[in-house]
Amino acid sequence: MAGEDQELVAEGERRIEWAARNMPVLAEIARRWRRERPLAGVRVGACLHVTTETANLVLALAGGGASVALCASNPLSTQDDVAAALNGRLGVPTFARRGEDQDTYYRHILAVLDTRPHLVMDDGADLISTLHTQRAELLDGVWAGTEETTTGVLRLAAMEREGSLRVPVVAVNQAQTKHMFDNRYGTGQSALDGVLRATNRLIAGSTLVVVGYGWCGRGVAARGRGLGARVVVVEVDPLKALEAVMDGFWVTDMAEAARLGDLFITVTGNARVIRREHLELMKDGALLANAGHFNVEVDIPALQALAQSRRPARENVEEFTLADGRRLYLLGEGRLVNLACAEGHPAQVMDMSFANQALTLEWLAKDRPPLERRVLPVPADIDARVARLKLESLGVRLEELTPEQRAYLSSWKLGTTG
Ligand code: ADE
Repeated sequence: MAGEDQELVAEGERRIEWAARNMPVLAEIARRWRRERPLAGVRVGACLHVTTETANLVLALAGGGASVALCASNPLSTQDDVAAALNGRLGVPTFARRGEDQDTYYRHILAVLDTRPHLVMDDGADLISTLHTQRAELLDGVWAGTEETTTGVLRLAAMEREGSLRVPVVAVNQAQTKHMFDNRYGTGQSALDGVLRATNRLIAGSTLVVVGYGWCGRGVAARGRGLGARVVVVEVDPLKALEAVMDGFWVTDMAEAARLGDLFITVTGNARVIRREHLELMKDGALLANAGHFNVEVDIPALQALAQSRRPARENVEEFTLADGRRLYLLGEGRLVNLACAEGHPAQVMDMSFANQALTLEWLAKDRPPLERRVLPVPADIDARVARLKLESLGVRLEELTPEQRAYLSSWKLGTTG
């Protein structure tokens, strides 16, 4: 390996260790696994963002006896030093390079599938969909899968509805210790981190339009307000829109929001939520960022078609100049801004998401539960265990119910007294 690569390996190792310091729950599981080896002989194929946090997850799996192969779940999220470290001394075959083109991206997914995994881990469902479409002959050897993110769960649910899902998949995203923390606090912080690193713009006093008020949107809106932005929310679901109103945000439709925003962050999981008719209304200098899984939320072909010229404005920022001279700025090619322009969610929150992944994989490998070929929930006891372990690691004391309170809660006999 060239000297430069050795430096990359060393940098990756240092940063993986840094993340490990903030992943105590995963570390506890990894310690136990090194003794018990619950994954001995199990082949795991993982398609996840190749970050320092993911490195700690795959190292825990390998320490528990699994043979792991990893590829990226987004062409622009790979941290090359992490991939180098995993491929180097850490010994986990990792097929990923930041900025890889679409062909390479899918070639890397096939390389992972070619290791004939028993268990697959996905983030966005590209691995599982490719397994069904291009490597269907391997399906019989796959016991089950896990899915990390909202978009992936929606895609897999569509496969299930259509009757084409041929492996059981556990929706890790649906665990409460995943989406209530990772999606809200993780995306909330890391999406703004991506915008700040890419642009170095002041958020205070600016108008931030958050498109989508699911768990991620709630987090982005709350953190945007914390930084001093006037936050406008766009939402299609009446209940979520009402919640945003009661949370104190200005809620309106995309046509009005388009005129107001200095910065737009899409977090809907849907396609073309910012379209040509909205781009035509935007202010000169507006920033466009996406924190949803795929790069389809901003209509990039429409932006390209509207532009008279385009050029890089700075790293991860592309300037599009429209016919009337207005300039719009697209961050991170419209891909996940937190991973394309920053480092993704902080380790403290990935600790819980990946503890869910780890304990779910252990359950799938050890118990080999008979599961239907459907999208399935994380067992409730795993979710509760992750919460308890996280609280313990934070040194937080939990109150206990007294026997009397337990009896009270399970009885209907006591009502109004006095
Ligand atoms: N998704 C969001 N942030 C992430 C991170 N830091 N590592 C892996 N997947 C992520």
